[in-house]
Amino acid sequence: MLPAQGSAHAREVDSLYIFLVWLTVFFFVIIAGMLGSFVWKYRMSRSKPGPTPYITHHTGLELTWSVIPLLILIVIFFWGFHGWVEAGVVPNDAMEIQVTGKKWLWTFEYPNGTRSINSLHVPIGKPVKLVLTSEDVIHSFFLPDYRVKQDAVPGRYSELWFNPETAGPHQVFCAEYCGKSHSDMMAKVFVDDDATYQKWLEEGDEELKKMPLAELGKLIYENRGCATCHSIDGVKGQGPSFKGIWGHDQPLADGKSVVVDANYVRESILQPQAKVVAGFEPIMPTFQGLLREREILGVIEYLKTLR
Ligand code: CUA
Repeated sequence: MLPAQGSAHAREVDSLYIFLVWLTVFFFVIIAGMLGSFVWKYRMSRSKPGPTPYITHHTGLELTWSVIPLLILIVIFFWGFHGWVEAGVVPNDAMEIQVTGKKWLWTFEYPNGTRSINSLHVPIGKPVKLVLTSEDVIHSFFLPDYRVKQDAVPGRYSELWFNPETAGPHQVFCAEYCGKSHSDMMAKVFVDDDATYQKWLEEGDEELKKMPLAELGKLIYENRGCATCHSIDGVKGQGPSFKGIWGHDQPLADGKSVVVDANYVRESILQPQAKVVAGFEPIMPTFQGLLREREILGVIEYLKTLR
């Protein structure tokens, strides 16, 4: 019933959790069992007439049911404290990746300047430290497979670390309600072997380079957050639908209009507030520095296919 275990920390959290569950089951059975058996044993129909015996206490019994739970609680405390300290103290050799949350996507910046959106690549078996912040409201970076979660707060940095042990992909959720598309604010963690990771850092994904433009554009559309606001079936979302948009006159918020061509699409991706479509809020984040030239071309080609 628990998510996959992506790290040693996940295993430690789980073992404490499972211990608590079985401890609870154990005491439930004892307490409920004794309750039931006393109800049966001392039921009304069997009680003898006469006064109820006067019972004071039993020192040995009282010490037992105080001391044993105390010892168990001390064990639970140190067990939990150990996991908490472990999750809070980042190893010195951890690789640092900058994470920015914004409505409604996650962006990642790697030590060499490579960036990615909604997909975090990490090398297997090496501790990774994420430095989180937000451009707008409070988001929360939740990685269930690693049993870690940390708020991304505008105007400050927070930290989170994990040591990926198993190949992904591992799902990332936003765990702080942040607006209309909060539930779509998802990313994936891909755990690569060393060579694949280095290659990915240097040149981006090789498969993506070989992909035909329109196909690449579809992938960008689906994985980089476009789909969160722009439908492809004509349904109005946070942003205009992409269906049949190519080549049409688009009325703008300032009363002018623009023909949807390559330059307009490119401008809207890099400077979304430059020409806002009539009837929509200027809420789109910029993708400046987040998409490669070929990826922008891909999106343009993909739009052409949405008749
Ligand atoms: Cu970002 Cu919820």
